[in-house]
Amino acid sequence: MKPETNFNRRREEFPTLASGIHLLSHSLGPVPRAVRESMNAYAEAWEHHTSEDAWATSWWEMSTEVGDRIARILSAEPGSVQVQPNASIALSSVASCFDFKDNDRNKIVTSALDFPSMQYIWDAQSRIGATVEVVHSDDGITVPLKHILNAIDDTTCLVALSHVSFRSSYRVDARAIVERAHKHGALVLLDIYQSAGAVELFPRDWEIDFLIGGTIKWLCGGPACGYLYVRPDLQKELAPRLTGWVAHAEPFAFAEAPMSYVDSVRRFAQGTPGIPALYSVLPGLQIIEEVGVKTIQAESQRRTEWMIDFALEHGWKVNSPRDVNDRGASVMIYVDDGPAMVTRLNERKVFVDCRPGVGLRISPHFFNTDEEVREAMGILAEMMKSI
Ligand SMILES: Cc1ncc(COP(=O)(O)O)c(C=O)c1O
Repeated sequence: MKPETNFNRRREEFPTLASGIHLLSHSLGPVPRAVRESMNAYAEAWEHHTSEDAWATSWWEMSTEVGDRIARILSAEPGSVQVQPNASIALSSVASCFDFKDNDRNKIVTSALDFPSMQYIWDAQSRIGATVEVVHSDDGITVPLKHILNAIDDTTCLVALSHVSFRSSYRVDARAIVERAHKHGALVLLDIYQSAGAVELFPRDWEIDFLIGGTIKWLCGGPACGYLYVRPDLQKELAPRLTGWVAHAEPFAFAEAPMSYVDSVRRFAQGTPGIPALYSVLPGLQIIEEVGVKTIQAESQRRTEWMIDFALEHGWKVNSPRDVNDRGASVMIYVDDGPAMVTRLNERKVFVDCRPGVGLRISPHFFNTDEEVREAMGILAEMMKSI
């Protein structure tokens, strides 16, 4: 492995790390110690609220604060991110901005490597007139850029893909896709759940239209805090049908329909935000911001390169791209019986998971030491030998 980078891994701030080697950031990040304090602050404040003063004194601003913190991690501008209950709702909000029926521009381009929720949501849109083209993956690891670009034409309204696939860690070329889509009058959405916090993002350079994701994985946040980025100059052109009173220009006027959307990213909100979830994600977001995504990505690339070399030297099948520019921060290694191997590794305090057809998913994050990464791969080598 190339020499270790010297920076504060903040290990003492994550109690979970004492229980073993945590290589699960693609699924569930470890909880920062400071979350307990943050949740106590929430309970404390709640005990002292009477009724609407909760909104006036803290709850209303909380969504904006968390949205702007996430925006900073995504290298996006303030006012471009609206928190959402989860990534599936964030995608549904975007889907609800399109009229597919009796529209010549009704095609959604997706890929076979996207997260299943995303596929279900697009499939459901076909009931209201959308044509869904799922770009195939021949090897189950990659989707050739050329195939994605060829699927985009003048009938395409949206290209919606995983930036980094949960299945193989394959990373798409965002800039090339946006360039082609915009040339054909289509918009582009990337699901960055598996890249935000571990891979540098350039939404402004890419001129990307939408980003969706959540905080539970690489951002060391908790569950039930998703987010949606919408390109600032596009926001006002859209009127999501998935809506609610929080998206209204004057929410506390409790005006009758029709809806009058606010002129900000809040127009993509729905109802009361998950306030406890917002409190729970703040410490993790702060740590990620302080460590810095640039540092995290460099560390990730150094370790995943070594892991892939190690795997190939041992003759294992790696189900992630070999080129560092084509992958995210996880490495997938094929094993015949994934669940059994995960159990055996867990018994040795190595925490990874598996997916059908893919094998193990292994994800070093900034808080892991090189020693841990070496030890985990060494234990895996012992187990592979004894199969
Ligand atoms: C790439 C990707 N997108 C979406 C999701 C699901 O997100 P949510 O549960 O917030 O809808 C996941 C969860 O594992 C994921 O890995």
